[in-house]
Amino acid sequence: MKNILITGGAGFIGSHVVRLFVNKYPNYNIINLDALTYAGNLENLKDIENKSNYTFIKGDICEHDAVKEIFSKYKIDGVIHLAAESHVDRSIKNPFAFAQTNIMGTLSLLQAAKEFWKDNYKDKLFYHISTDEVYGSLTENGFFTEDTAYDPHSPYSASKASSDHFVRSFHDTYGLPIIISNCSNNYGANQFPEKLIPLFINNICKNKPLPVYGKGENVRDWLYVEDHASAIDVIFHQGKIGETYNVGGFNEWKNIDLIKILIKTVDTLLGREEGSSESLITFVNDRAGHDYRYAIDSSKLKNELGWEPSLQFEEGIEKTIKWYLEDKEWVKHVTSGDYKKYYDEMYTK
Ligand code: NAD
Ligand code: TYD
Repeated sequence: MKNILITGGAGFIGSHVVRLFVNKYPNYNIINLDALTYAGNLENLKDIENKSNYTFIKGDICEHDAVKEIFSKYKIDGVIHLAAESHVDRSIKNPFAFAQTNIMGTLSLLQAAKEFWKDNYKDKLFYHISTDEVYGSLTENGFFTEDTAYDPHSPYSASKASSDHFVRSFHDTYGLPIIISNCSNNYGANQFPEKLIPLFINNICKNKPLPVYGKGENVRDWLYVEDHASAIDVIFHQGKIGETYNVGGFNEWKNIDLIKILIKTVDTLLGREEGSSESLITFVNDRAGHDYRYAIDSSKLKNELGWEPSLQFEEGIEKTIKWYLEDKEWVKHVTSGDYKKYYDEMYTK
């Protein structure tokens, strides 16, 4: 495959995937299709935007005719599909946007791939990026494996589950070459500060309250975003058609324990008395339908494709916190909304 369409490449995970592919594979053409919603930020890709093997297209995956044109103009032979509405709390407020982008948008891409590749599927691949949240919630013990039955609880996870089913149905019905991976929670640079880790780092810095849902006892399994990008690279190139791979680092944290690590590290780096920001912790009403625990068993990916995370959590979280503390421009632009001007400045002159 040479001409790779990456959707959602201006978002958090997508930007790390685009950077990895543009730098590592100079003989590929990487086409980044992104609608630049509130979560899309081209400043994430400043360092590679002028590379000759990179093209950015501002567009909506739901616009089927425009998507078909992209397939035809760029002779797309591989798709890595990350574009999505991704925040659970937003899905509780506005589920329609999630059904539209995550379900209808995925269907629009699948149909375009099927029509453009016209049953000549040799050396083609539609790779769909999904989440462990489709599997629902665990109690104290056990892990999600690739065989765990789907049991989504939030409108976000329901829309992702639905998109996964559509992707599999295109394989089973039309023979479309697909792969799906389901990953645990990601952390790292360039994440929009509505998700737990960047929101709390920012609030600790600014001495703002830290809204902990419920008692802070929910458990999440955290993976460094560059390790997710490296897993995507391995699965895209070596994964078996029709298969699902779970991606995770066996790295579970109770929210409150993770929050205390964030506080301790930020306080130390800012020269504050260690732990002094714990007074910012504010327990608030629990999230509706809050899944108790996610934990991924990624041994299939390790045993079959040899992938393992490169970083231990302690190293990854310190690197991440330092990035948010040092990259003040990015944080300032995102929190003020100025990052939205970047597209006009760079692409519309
Ligand atoms: P994000 O919200 O940071 O980025 C999503 C990107 O998609 C943005 O750039 C946005 O502009 C773009 N987009 C949204 N709607 C679009 C549309 N209609 N057309 C074109 N582009 C559109 O999300 P993320 O955290 O980077 O997640 C990327 C993917 O990975 C999603 O599919 C998500 O479900 C999945 N995932 C995320 C995590 C996580 O922890 N963040 C974990 C597992 C899987
Ligand atoms: P989040 O980053 O939204 O990811 P997800 O819900 O997809 O796992 O939230 C991670 C955990 O942190 C989750 O259990 C909800 C909790 N949380 C808070 O306690 N307060 C917050 O302000 C946010 C955004 C999340």
